Amino acid sequence: TDDRSADLTELAKRRGFFLQSAGAYGGVSGFYTFGPNGAGLKDNIEDSWRDRFTVREGNVEIDAPTIMPEPVFEASGHLDGFDDMLVECPSCGESHRADHVVEDNTDYEEAEGLGPDRVGEIIEEYELVCPTCGTGLAGQAIEDFNLMFETNIGPGSSSPGYLRPETAQGIFVEFPQLKEYARNQLPFGVTQIGRAYRNEISPRKSLLRVREFTQAELELFVDPEDGEGPDLDSVVDVVAPFYGVDQQAADDGDPLDITVGEAHERGLVADPWIAYYLGVAAEWYDSIGVDMDRFRFRQHQSGERAHYAADCWDAEAEVDGDWIELAGFAYRSDYDLSKHDEYSDEDFTVFRQYDEPITTERPTVDPDMSSLGPAFGGAAGDIADALADLAEEAPDAFRDAESDTDGEGTVTVEVDGDAYDVPVGQTGFSVEEVTESGEHFLPHVVEPSLGIDRALYTVLDHCYREDEVDGEERTFLELPASVAPTTVGVFPLMDRDGLGEEAREVAADLRERGLSVAYDDSGAIGRRYRRQDEVGTPFCVTVDYATVGEARDDDEGEPGTVTVRERDTTAQKRIAVEDLAETLDALREG
Ligand code: GAP
Repeated sequence: TDDRSADLTELAKRRGFFLQSAGAYGGVSGFYTFGPNGAGLKDNIEDSWRDRFTVREGNVEIDAPTIMPEPVFEASGHLDGFDDMLVECPSCGESHRADHVVEDNTDYEEAEGLGPDRVGEIIEEYELVCPTCGTGLAGQAIEDFNLMFETNIGPGSSSPGYLRPETAQGIFVEFPQLKEYARNQLPFGVTQIGRAYRNEISPRKSLLRVREFTQAELELFVDPEDGEGPDLDSVVDVVAPFYGVDQQAADDGDPLDITVGEAHERGLVADPWIAYYLGVAAEWYDSIGVDMDRFRFRQHQSGERAHYAADCWDAEAEVDGDWIELAGFAYRSDYDLSKHDEYSDEDFTVFRQYDEPITTERPTVDPDMSSLGPAFGGAAGDIADALADLAEEAPDAFRDAESDTDGEGTVTVEVDGDAYDVPVGQTGFSVEEVTESGEHFLPHVVEPSLGIDRALYTVLDHCYREDEVDGEERTFLELPASVAPTTVGVFPLMDRDGLGEEAREVAADLRERGLSVAYDDSGAIGRRYRRQDEVGTPFCVTVDYATVGEARDDDEGEPGTVTVRERDTTAQKRIAVEDLAETLDALREG
């Protein structure tokens, strides 16, 4: 697998998928530039995500800034809690993620939730060493390191800002406007695709852990009391391996190959919206080229969950022999909205209309209770407050006192340890009837959060193939046509006798119809096919003498036809030029 990842990295660089940024200046870890093929593949993956998670679901997309002011992250909890554990090597000075040191060296598959003290103990117990220089790390302090990149907004340092560590907060902070846009109707889904930044202690594994990456997130706002939930019908039969916390203990860790419907029915995936989006996501990953035999869902254990998550499932893929997290599906409850509601001056609640207006009794006492004054002297104000509280909390105390003694009774309140008996008649106690048509509440959030870079890397890894064609080794990417950066290569058999002009015309025509076309007239035709195979182009069209009506005999092809070659099978067939665009479109749709 190390060879595979080396081959893939070499291919990625040579064929313009991705490479470490600023190589001319020595490069900097955790930052990658997507070349022409990588940017094309990434755009297509994003478009396909947008189509599936936004358009088809009837959700709406927004586009928020990547820098936001400090109060946003104070409220969200990131300023305080978005930390990784750092351990510094006493010898070479290199910093490492302490939980990764543990995971890499021992039986601990997952160290994320363990906490600095326990991680320190494990490092000591197993005599773990610095991954860079091999020096023992026992006894080194384990520190919390905040992953946010800090900056200043405007000159000076009075207005700190942070590069967003997740796109989600850009949606949450605008909820007071978004809820109006949705006319207070739930469920309501808002999506966003954009860059997120994390100052990872040790970026690694190429695109899989980087410092600047693209997230595609959906924040689905739901009413926790709405019993209806999603219509699971469309995804109920999607089969995937589910690997849950309870079942993990029961089944010794073997995932269950069950449908989304079953996973929900068995209570493994308790929330119906999470179940629904696990189904949507499994279908989507399959459609972009992730191998479903190397894909699973795994439930977070309690220590592993982020500070905001009440339940969380990950979509994972097997890459280079490890299971990596592609996406998280978190039940964030009302955590974020309640924080922003508390920390800002805006109202983050929505109004829930009751089916029928509800009438309730509201007990009150006379708010100024001036009649108390003379009898109770200086304590009168405090007693009035205590009576008002009592009227709300225990109105029966007043009622009982009234009825027991024909209105002559007294209620007793305690102020600063002293008990006062106040005649009910003097309190101005009464019961009002109020009718309310609904109530304000904070919606809960279900969040499918997908990483685009990890999806892209996984797709390249899972679609990478080597085989033999005509006795020659070839490398090709079996990318689905819907995401391949180039849909069709167009070649003249050779660039003479008008074949070049004809091929350029065919290419221009296909481009006009919205297909992404690579024109290539250099080198032997077999080599041109290989070049397209390597970047995953599903079809190649060759213009030859038949196309221009100059074949020596009809066996070489009817006049006005081209050959279309299919990448995976290398099979070729002849198609009339005028039918080409339509045929390719149909083939691309699959
Ligand atoms: N809003 C929720 C959230 O941000 P997360 O699990 O921290 O949740 C979601 O991130 C996804 O973003 C991950 O599943 C992963 O695909 C991607 N991601 C997170 N950190 C990353 C990194 N350093 N490099 C590449 N992708 C990353």
